[in-house]
Amino acid sequence: MSKQRVKWVVGNWKMHGRLADNAALLQSVAEGAGAMADAVRIGVCVPTPYLAQVQSQLAGKPLAWGVQDISTYTHGAYTGDVAAEMAVEFGATLAIVGHSERRAYHAESSELVAAKARRALEAGLTPIVCIGETLDEREAGKTEAVVGGQLDAVLNLLSVQEAARIIVAYEPVWAIGTGRSATARQAQEVHAFLRARLMQKDAALASVALLYGGSVKPENAQELFAQADIDGGLIGGASLKSQDFLAICAAAKAASHAG
Ligand code: PGA
Repeated sequence: MSKQRVKWVVGNWKMHGRLADNAALLQSVAEGAGAMADAVRIGVCVPTPYLAQVQSQLAGKPLAWGVQDISTYTHGAYTGDVAAEMAVEFGATLAIVGHSERRAYHAESSELVAAKARRALEAGLTPIVCIGETLDEREAGKTEAVVGGQLDAVLNLLSVQEAARIIVAYEPVWAIGTGRSATARQAQEVHAFLRARLMQKDAALASVALLYGGSVKPENAQELFAQADIDGGLIGGASLKSQDFLAICAAAKAASHAG
């Protein structure tokens, strides 16, 4: 089943970067990505102030770019928020929604995340919907209940046609930025569960890309990406080093050929 699905590698810069560092990083990622663009879709989600820089440096290159959050509104008195349409004006095609850091530090509920996913789709962005359990939840045997509920909130709001256009990123909270990735087996188990949940809503959702995120590194990427239901990765820390990020893209390419 994994044979038909294209692999994705998306960088999540989080709140990192400065103009000069970004320029160097983008240049080497763009140079290296050329050789892989046939087999892997590569993207970077950057802090919003850098959208113009990314647009001017990546225009015409085989790379997508996007933002790390969007408002549920198109415009209005929402100080500090950014509308999906604003990101689209800078050529963005991706928007991360529901990252666990936003759920934790900005109290974003699954219903709000679902509304953001729908808003992204309406504006023409592909939402990368992040879901994942905490360590306490995993140890209490609640992983499927938690990630199933987070996914259901989105599936309940979207039509099948809309849901077919989302990307889902499974990111166990305990694996993010900790250096402690889920094992390939742990990740595959959850991905298989999520795939089944998507297909329960509609068979057409079998092709939704399911990315794994949480301490993906060059050393573990290939094994993770070789799993039947893992369609690539959402990469935090390692996306800030071009060599590591490109090595992860190469692992996705190798896995897509092996599949
Ligand atoms: P990490 O972050 O790769 O640094 O663990 C992943 C993410 O939070 O998207």
